[in-house]
Amino acid sequence: MAASGIVLVGFLFAHAAGNLKIFIGNEDFDHYAHWLRTIGTPLLPDVWFLWIMRIGLLVAIFAHIWSATVLTVRAKKARPVKYAHRPKVQGSYAARTMRWGGVIVLLFIIYHILDLTTGTLNPVGDSSRPHANVIADFAPERWYVTLFYAVSVIAVGLHLRHGIFSAARTLGQQTAKGQRRAQAIALVLSVILVVAYLSVPFAVTVGLVK
Ligand code: HEM
Repeated sequence: MAASGIVLVGFLFAHAAGNLKIFIGNEDFDHYAHWLRTIGTPLLPDVWFLWIMRIGLLVAIFAHIWSATVLTVRAKKARPVKYAHRPKVQGSYAARTMRWGGVIVLLFIIYHILDLTTGTLNPVGDSSRPHANVIADFAPERWYVTLFYAVSVIAVGLHLRHGIFSAARTLGQQTAKGQRRAQAIALVLSVILVVAYLSVPFAVTVGLVK
């Protein structure tokens, strides 16, 4: 879980940084999207790097879901009889929502790819003009799309907050002091990521980016 999660967190930060380019200018954003398709050339043919990255991401997502399933089955086997009394509050809200949170994030990714990668659900849907797709997507009259993205990004943030903390534990963090530090780092990284992601749809909806 930890190794595949770290790959996905790496992607999330790189993707957030790329999205923020929209504040520099629409052409810069399109130029960046075009560059994504030409990384590695002329050593590799066009879009090869992009496809290598996509396959890497798919493998990481598959490994992450597979590990989650194995752990769930193992936990159920370890405790086949339900607790007679189970205290309601166990760990943070993020910790208690990891499984369903993960499912919501997965559904969001499927919608998001159909929206901004293939353009199927986007009012413009032109892959050569990603900035036009983003502007049309989060236009003021489509406030409900912005709201849906906001809820999904917050779900990503909650998932990440507990995920980063758990990864630190898996990778050997043991002490009480280390636990507090890991919790603080996980919170700060998740908040940075959520704010970076939310800034783009909101800036378009309120007309800051046109
Ligand atoms: C909320 C703000 C977000 C915006 C404005 C945004 C924007 C975009 C755009 C424009 C693309 C298409 C890039 C291209 O084809 O040139 C894209 C692709 C993608 N985004 Fe996002 N994104 C956001 C959030 C997220 C989040 C939270 C995730 C993950 C949980 C995510 C995962 C992906 C993935 C997996 C792709 C496909 C990459 C590919 O294979 O081409 N995005 N995004």
